[in-house]
Amino acid sequence: MCGIFGYTGHKEAQKLVIQGLKRLEYRGYDSSGLAVQDGFQALLVEKTSGKIKNLEALLHRRPLKGRTAIGHTRWATHGVPSRENAHPHLDNGGEIAVVHNGIIENHFDLKETLKAEGAVFRSETDTEVIVHLLAKYYKGNLENALRRSLKDLKGTYAIAAICSKEPGKLVGARRDSPLVVGLGKKENFLASDVSAIVEHTDRVMFLENGEMAVVTKDSARVVDGAGRPVGRKAVKVDWDITQAKKGGYPHFMLKEIFEQPGILTAVLRERLHGAKIRFDELKIAPRAFRKVKRIVIIACGTAYHAGLTAKYVLEELTDIPVWVDTSSEFRYRNPKLGKGTLVIAVSQSGETADTLAGLREAKAKGALTLSVCNVLGSSLSREAQGVLYTHAGPEIAVASTKAYTAQLAVLYLLAFYLAGLFNSLPQKKRKELLREFSRVPFLMQKTLDQYREDEKEWAEKARDFNARYHAQLEKYFSTDPEKRKRSPNGFFLYLGRNINYPNALEGALKLKEISYIPAEGYPAGEMKHGPIALIDENPWVICLAPQSRTYDKMISNIQEIKARGGIVIPIVSEGDSEIHKLQPFYLIRVPKVRELFSPFLTVLPLQLIAYCVAREFGEDIDQPRNLAKSVTVE
Ligand code: M6R
Repeated sequence: MCGIFGYTGHKEAQKLVIQGLKRLEYRGYDSSGLAVQDGFQALLVEKTSGKIKNLEALLHRRPLKGRTAIGHTRWATHGVPSRENAHPHLDNGGEIAVVHNGIIENHFDLKETLKAEGAVFRSETDTEVIVHLLAKYYKGNLENALRRSLKDLKGTYAIAAICSKEPGKLVGARRDSPLVVGLGKKENFLASDVSAIVEHTDRVMFLENGEMAVVTKDSARVVDGAGRPVGRKAVKVDWDITQAKKGGYPHFMLKEIFEQPGILTAVLRERLHGAKIRFDELKIAPRAFRKVKRIVIIACGTAYHAGLTAKYVLEELTDIPVWVDTSSEFRYRNPKLGKGTLVIAVSQSGETADTLAGLREAKAKGALTLSVCNVLGSSLSREAQGVLYTHAGPEIAVASTKAYTAQLAVLYLLAFYLAGLFNSLPQKKRKELLREFSRVPFLMQKTLDQYREDEKEWAEKARDFNARYHAQLEKYFSTDPEKRKRSPNGFFLYLGRNINYPNALEGALKLKEISYIPAEGYPAGEMKHGPIALIDENPWVICLAPQSRTYDKMISNIQEIKARGGIVIPIVSEGDSEIHKLQPFYLIRVPKVRELFSPFLTVLPLQLIAYCVAREFGEDIDQPRNLAKSVTVE
């Protein structure tokens, strides 16, 4: 939540900060701002509500000149999105500016004290206390003032600050929110993550909790809470900036959907060598894995669905029992962990607050911990005993697509790896399955190519849904009792079974988050226990029915829905013999593949359905309302 970008160097800062904030916009986009040191001992500030393009437009009319600056893109926690609540915040004298990502939990108490001491608060944010603390403790050295201020703060933060009296200097600090230093030539950067920096430099230093950074154009120091240098080495990141650009696609989401076959190919090429699986960065020795008696997977949102799918795979290929929990539930239960338990935390960002808290809980209880993350150097990847990177490249669209496939890829490989360690799968079978796994990227590509061919039909269906949906709403809200419907149920229902059940949840989540249309994911077998009451001629029911051991059961479910007038859109395997005979409203075919690997294929139409519907409804696909890409608050 919230993105921070700081620059000091030989170039005009404004343009670079705006560029950096745009890369971080996925972290929040309800308001933004920047503060620039103008070289004449003053800070110039501009901020506004809305997306970064609003700020850009303001700056276009009134540019702020200067070569050191900090900027911020916000996802509101305390105080509505408005100019006043946008960061940076200034002290009374306008000499110190601060941007912040996180939550200051004791801000009420601090505010009272600071107000009594003369601080004038201009916003409703928790952040503003930081800048008044800095002013209080400032004795000619911003680094010292920040170090002293941090002692008073409770909560989470990544902070960047500048002071008009110390030209060319940025100071930063982190606790539980990410902060990265980028090392350039005669210029250096501070940012919430590497995606904002990679177009300027591939050398970065990640800050650990409790550390501070002091950055000028010629130097960057990382120090501990007492001001001692920590000797942090720079690491090279291999993210390519072209990956973070749209590359001709109208939306990042569509581009990321289409990247999936390539990502799976790359993951398999890197990790699968014949029947051998290589996890070079893993850090957990095979002998530690051999002691594992149970696996608990924790994650949120889409990553949780990847975890759920992994349960089916792990239990199919190994004899290890697996539990999956949403991190926000796991952390507040009293989970029974301890020796013999492997806790796997799955996360694209590696910064999700609940997953991080769950991982810490697991570590404290003595479990072996492993993170499956996309973002290199993220908190989860550093705090877990082992890490497996998903290497999906920067995922910009808030709705996760390629990160999901990459998570599945790594979790499947982990299942094969554990099956190898525990000898739970005959060699011949293992080889056969891995051979089939290698073909999956090709089949994914075929699925996407088919979509390209059928794109017009998909758009028509989305238009049709839109028309029916609005007709439904009109009936619902009609003042004419004759016309009025009892309940609005123009919505989507996603049904799946077995290993495709998690994809049903994922399909519903995708649709909800980018089109705001009510959608439910359900295990098809549960329909008769309640949800079938929802069925009339209105809901659109997406049935995941590829070739599988539960195929016949799905046919029965489809018949039950059809018998009640529901609009059925089955997703079936090519060559499907039965379901097309039921004359569904629209039939989506994916290539034939073994059931185990079918989630890689069935998820693609689900992502595309969400995309087409949201596009038809004219929604902001890459940046849906109320959401942020990484949820670093509880
Ligand atoms: O960064 P993470 O994978 O930990 O994020 C978890 C969820 O916040 C995330 O998957 C969210 O549900 C996505 N917006 C789904 O598209």
